[in-house]
Amino acid sequence: MVCKTRGIERFFAGMTKEEFKSEFKSKLSEVELAIDKYLPRADTRPAILHRAMRYSMEAGGKRLRPILLLAAHDMFPSSIDPYPACVAIECLHTYSLIHDDLPCMDNSDLRRGKPTCHKQFDETIALLAGDALLTYAFWLLGEHYANAPEVSNGLVRDLGYAAGSCGMVGGQVEDVLGERESVMTADRLQFIHENKTAALITAAVTMGIRLSGDCDSGKIETAKKIGHNIGLAFQVIDDILDVTSDDATMGKTTGLDAANQKTTYVSIYGIEESRKIAAELSAEASRLCDSLSENCAFMKALISYMLNRIN
Ligand code: IPE
Ligand code: IPE
Ligand code: MG
Ligand code: MG
Ligand code: MG
Repeated sequence: MVCKTRGIERFFAGMTKEEFKSEFKSKLSEVELAIDKYLPRADTRPAILHRAMRYSMEAGGKRLRPILLLAAHDMFPSSIDPYPACVAIECLHTYSLIHDDLPCMDNSDLRRGKPTCHKQFDETIALLAGDALLTYAFWLLGEHYANAPEVSNGLVRDLGYAAGSCGMVGGQVEDVLGERESVMTADRLQFIHENKTAALITAAVTMGIRLSGDCDSGKIETAKKIGHNIGLAFQVIDDILDVTSDDATMGKTTGLDAANQKTTYVSIYGIEESRKIAAELSAEASRLCDSLSENCAFMKALISYMLNRIN
């Protein structure tokens, strides 16, 4: 699925809309090729597992995390190949979606325009396909950056921390607790969004910077702030689209947040205030990009594109 926007051109400062589209398309097709290249073949034994992994990976997500990683890498270009890391973060993200859709979590039937993994296969295979994608992500990083141990170590640490109990999984747990307890507070909302979504998006940015092979702690700290702002804005927009969009446009089941009594930006602040918050977070991310590197035109255009997406 290609990410669509509401076509707000003034956001593409520093790059024309056409330049951005062409760069995005080229990065997207490189990411798709890398996914096909690095995943085990579908007929690898046990074939049903590898078919399920490929089913969810190839269903056509927007690939925003790998593209963010590439945008961050562009800010400090190097000769280190970023594509294994792109595939690793997309594997991790796809595992999180497979598990998020399970009946014991959000109980969703549609993902990336297709039946969810557990609908297409079954719950056991979906659970295990998620497990396999999660672990494969770390194998990819160890395998493909073995010649650059410092880079490899940084990538594994960023991804591992972001994905775990102090990051994405912690956010998912608090999301479920909010649903169970039916208590929505701004503090819980912030914790959920920072962890379930912003943590992995932050890792996409820091991993891209680490692939420059030369990163001091100051650069990484700024990269973390950029990723945090982009990630929060991303989940705020996801919450808005869950209310304002539809299944066909989103390629996933919409309206589930309200049905499941989720703690979301919309449920606490309403749609208009939430849009303002997302715009402010994106503007702050862009300002921080300017402070980090002169080569940030694509990153800034990508931030705008993500803010104005319609799916
Ligand atoms: C969906 O992420 C899950 C959230 C964190 C909101 P995306 O909207 O990036 O999903 P895909 O990868 O395009 O399917
Ligand atoms: C999911 O958040 C975040 C993760 C998968 C970690 P949501 O539950 O809001 O994502 P969607 O809306 O189902 O894509
Ligand atoms: Mg969820
Ligand atoms: Mg969900
Ligand atoms: Mg959602």
